[in-house]
Amino acid sequence: MANQLCIVLDFGGQYNQLIARRVRDCGVYCEIRSYTTPLEEIKTLNPMGIIFTGGPNSVYEENSPHIAKEIFDLGIPILGICYGCQVVAYTLGGEVSSCTKSEYGKIEITQSEGGLLFGDIPEKSVVWMSHTDYVSKLPEGFRVTAASSDCPAAAFENPQKKLYAVQFHPEVTHSEYGKNIFRNFLYNVCSFSGDWKMDNFIDTTVAQLRDQIGDKNVILGLSGGVDSSVAAALLSRAVGNQLTCVFVDQGLMRKDEGDFVEETFTKLFDMNFVRVNCQDQFLEKLKGVSEPESKRKIIGTEFYNVFWNKIRECGTDGYFAQGTIYPDRIESGKGNKSGKGKTDVIKTHHNMVEMPIDIQFAGTIEPLKDLFKDEVRAVGEKLGIPHELVWRQPFPGPGLGVRIIGEITKEKISVLQEADAVLRDEIAKSGIEDTLKQFFAVLPDVKTVGVMGDHRTYDHLIAIRAVTTDDFMTADWARIPYDILARVSNRITNEVEHVNRVVYDITSKPPGTVEWE
Ligand code: XMP
Repeated sequence: MANQLCIVLDFGGQYNQLIARRVRDCGVYCEIRSYTTPLEEIKTLNPMGIIFTGGPNSVYEENSPHIAKEIFDLGIPILGICYGCQVVAYTLGGEVSSCTKSEYGKIEITQSEGGLLFGDIPEKSVVWMSHTDYVSKLPEGFRVTAASSDCPAAAFENPQKKLYAVQFHPEVTHSEYGKNIFRNFLYNVCSFSGDWKMDNFIDTTVAQLRDQIGDKNVILGLSGGVDSSVAAALLSRAVGNQLTCVFVDQGLMRKDEGDFVEETFTKLFDMNFVRVNCQDQFLEKLKGVSEPESKRKIIGTEFYNVFWNKIRECGTDGYFAQGTIYPDRIESGKGNKSGKGKTDVIKTHHNMVEMPIDIQFAGTIEPLKDLFKDEVRAVGEKLGIPHELVWRQPFPGPGLGVRIIGEITKEKISVLQEADAVLRDEIAKSGIEDTLKQFFAVLPDVKTVGVMGDHRTYDHLIAIRAVTTDDFMTADWARIPYDILARVSNRITNEVEHVNRVVYDITSKPPGTVEWE
């Protein structure tokens, strides 16, 4: 049974995925589509609610995104947010003007007419505003339901036509009662039943996978990351040992990580687990190479060769599965005001492995393609994947290869793995792990002079990197308390051979990136 559907129509705003996540948090399945989606297609999708997102434009600009007026006659409830709210007003004959003073940040609004979106919200509340235009005249049939001191129509509605609009951003946590607004729209206006639950997702997906796969085999590339691990567990539940997981250990993982992944998937799940140990092969190719982009390319190419050769060996008569998740697929950002959609490539990432042309499977299976990361984690926990794997922090495809500056050698990998293991252990004990989005050790290939007992030493320096961030586009260096840093430094210099100095990286992003290479 398909889930009831809410559609988020994307007008180019920065919070669009967040809107979809909020809707799903309310137990309603939701997909993001472009504002250019033809009306016929929307009708076929048969959504029970539509949300217009914010966007960077002004409705009066020449190339600003607009929508056919007929969408308002479908009888489907609509909620317009920020720019989406102005689109509702403008398209239906209201007026939008420039604010004399832009509203940005936390703003207090006061309810007026007891609007349906505000049923369980106090008369005055704080919302997140970010706009330079505002709705200066409502279309016919609408009434104001909330106002701020600078925005007379902070929210308005036409309950007969089931049209609602808010100038602020209920999806942002700074909006005190944002969740209530979504819940009120979804349940009181659209009458969703709340059928989007992870238990249902697992049952339905397992049934679909069994149906689709039949008695064929499935091969999945398992990296040990969250997404491929959850995809593996789901497929294992569906088809057991018809599933083969290929795990390439290039020797650039954290200490004992390869063994942990192998143990988890061979002990806890029914499947064929194929581990390819190829550290020496990678090291041979990386010999003498110190330029970061060359290292990344070599690691990527070598991975590609090893992985696909193993797949050829395993046989390609069945299906190929991947851990693609929803954000990987959403075509986001319809260009900004300057019309530029793309940003510079700061670093090449090598996660998406393309399929060689000589390899042909019966089809590709992406069991997590509709899930957000937090939903993938929830599914992973329900399937019994260890907490450590489900909540694993991001780990770059090239692994420790981008954390060892300069040439990569067996000795340096081992030094870094040991130092990183100490750091992880201390952070886990300290109780601050949840406040850090990512933390790791780096080996900058710098040797410095030290002293041990009566001897002079000349050994490696280890750098500690720890960041807090929402989305990794920008990041702040984490303010780890000094006493924790002191313990980490003390233990690394005492316990890890060939390290005589530890430093802490206090660079934010920008100008630094999270990884050192
Ligand atoms: P940067 O260094 O670009 O990192 O600020 C941002 C986030 O991306 C991760 N990262 C990678 N992830 N393959 C990946 O899968 C890569 O090549 C790669 N390089 C960086 C990094 O760990 C951080 O979480």
